[in-house]
Amino acid sequence: MSQENIESVLDETRVFEPPQSDTSFSSIADWQRACDNFEADFEGTWGDLARQNLTWQKPFHTVLNSDKPPFYRWFEDGNINLSENCLDRHVNNGLGERTAIIWEGEPGDVRHISYQQLLAEVCQAANSLKTLGVVKGDRVIIYMPMIPEAAVAMLACARIGATHSVVFGAFSAQALRDRVEDAAATLIITADGGYRRGAVHSLKNSVDEALSQGCPSLKHVLVVKRGQNDVNWVDNRDIDWTTLLTQQATTCPPETIASEHPLFILYTSGSTGKPKGIVHSTGGYLLWAHLTMLYSFDFKPASDVFWCTADVGWITGHTYSVYGPLSNGGTTVMYEGVPTYPDAGRLWKICQDHKVSIFYTAPTAIRALNKAGDQYPNAYDLSKLRVLGTVGEPINPEAWMWYYKVIGGERCPVVDTWWQTETGGHMLAPMPFATPTKPGSATHALPGIATEIVDAQGDVVQKGGGLLVITKPWPSMLRGIWGDEVRFIETYWQKFADKGYYFAGDGARKDEDGYFWIMGRVDDVLNVSGHRLGTMEIESALVSHDAVAEAAVVGCPDDIKGEGIFAFVILKTAVTEGLEQELRAHVTKTIGAIAKPDVIRFTENLPKTRSGKIMRRLLRDIAAGREITSDISTLEDQAVVAQLQGKTVS
Ligand code: PRX
Repeated sequence: MSQENIESVLDETRVFEPPQSDTSFSSIADWQRACDNFEADFEGTWGDLARQNLTWQKPFHTVLNSDKPPFYRWFEDGNINLSENCLDRHVNNGLGERTAIIWEGEPGDVRHISYQQLLAEVCQAANSLKTLGVVKGDRVIIYMPMIPEAAVAMLACARIGATHSVVFGAFSAQALRDRVEDAAATLIITADGGYRRGAVHSLKNSVDEALSQGCPSLKHVLVVKRGQNDVNWVDNRDIDWTTLLTQQATTCPPETIASEHPLFILYTSGSTGKPKGIVHSTGGYLLWAHLTMLYSFDFKPASDVFWCTADVGWITGHTYSVYGPLSNGGTTVMYEGVPTYPDAGRLWKICQDHKVSIFYTAPTAIRALNKAGDQYPNAYDLSKLRVLGTVGEPINPEAWMWYYKVIGGERCPVVDTWWQTETGGHMLAPMPFATPTKPGSATHALPGIATEIVDAQGDVVQKGGGLLVITKPWPSMLRGIWGDEVRFIETYWQKFADKGYYFAGDGARKDEDGYFWIMGRVDDVLNVSGHRLGTMEIESALVSHDAVAEAAVVGCPDDIKGEGIFAFVILKTAVTEGLEQELRAHVTKTIGAIAKPDVIRFTENLPKTRSGKIMRRLLRDIAAGREITSDISTLEDQAVVAQLQGKTVS
């Protein structure tokens, strides 16, 4: 978080009482009671919730197995099929005609898909996967635009027990290849292309490029024709989605799946090395996806239209565009394109046209749409909205107030939800009709979730700043990093190993009312427009260019994106014209456009301590144009600072 934002958050004292509602959590006492139930009987309460809210193929007897921390196992002797929970049980309950997905394409084409139709299509897709030889435990990569087939593909994998790994469609061919290889996937499900900013963005070309040097595990590529753009076709490898699906039966018995079976792997950035494959289970993950829809959004499946704007390539899209709403038998909205096409009113038009009642997006989008002007939201009827959510990065109080006033008409509670790819679902969030809110605070832990702020020794800080930890296991916790047990332990559990706490990587502060305020990452992870990027990942991409000798990347304040990317680069060669552009293009090609540096500053030196460590805090001060707060007395060469500040031309 930028210094200015931190200051505005620290000064924030406004409190907004929750609106009255006759919902099941309608006062802070209801929240407290739910928390007390866990306090009184932690495992019993989780067990009851899992039995009451989900349909099990075989009931579980053991709620939590903590024999080998941090390898916790939830409901492990139970069997549960996620696809059955999201589809069959609603159809069997007479809800087959209810709309499961309202989808809008960027050009304006709309589809309403009922639960009955979705079940039939998922069964056809599941049968198609079987025809292609995919069996339980195989990994399937999903690299798609935001079209209903992306959700169908996820649910089809879940139905037969294939572990899916969705790769965000804007990631590069190389990033895709890395993920296919790490997961040793046998199948990629993709599309020819999808619409973005009025043009078709090709995905199939990236798949071809990713596989161009061979990929031993990969057998087939299943292609949805969405963009109708010309694509290369590799016979025997590439298969047309529609042709294959229409040959299949519309029924497919749900496979028997153990609760701990890996539902998906989702790659996310860390502070070191390559992105890590976060592994999530089936039963525990689904339980929290289901419950948080009720706790944080007060979701009423029979009457609400829920829209989470996240792409399915991110955890938010997994849990709140697909699995959470569908597990509850509600209606979820999916939109293919960008929020500003054809203009900054697009999201508000979609809210109006589809009668969206719960809307969930990232602060970046809120800030950008705020900046575009009130005339856009004011042109649409937003009266159906009743709850607003935000996620992914700290929200500054100004953006919160605009969201609350202009979008929510001062009648909709704003739920600021703090969580991570690793947590599977919300950890800190207000309950919209129970918790008084403060602009910029994610308020409290949800019932069942134990969060604390601790100092470097792991001692609890009652009031003030420190590190955010989760002190007890929870059902939707990550089960590991794909293929890397050591990294799993080192990243999340080693820091407070003696206490058994999960270390989230965020700094946070607790105020006098016990409210949590997230202060941002304390490691070398950036949060650019709510997207997580490792500084090392971007540095490696830069260094892989022939002209670059060394690079150091830090975040810098950005009014819209929250954090921008600032790269200090030492060249092997002299600066040539166009090199800056070339380096940006190189990073885009290596990772994707979201990782493109905003600023590249060429330098002859990087500030290092005598032990050779790059002084990142100093670089952050320079990137922000701030007064230097770091102690630079240990700096080898004091003249470096002036050059880094751009005062000397190299
Ligand atoms: O730094 C926190 C920030 O996003 C990180 C997690 O990123 P990712 O795994 O990509 O998941 C994003 C969506 C869940 C966190 O470590 N973050 C997430 N939500 C918030 C947040 N920072 C402040 N406030 C939030 N509400």
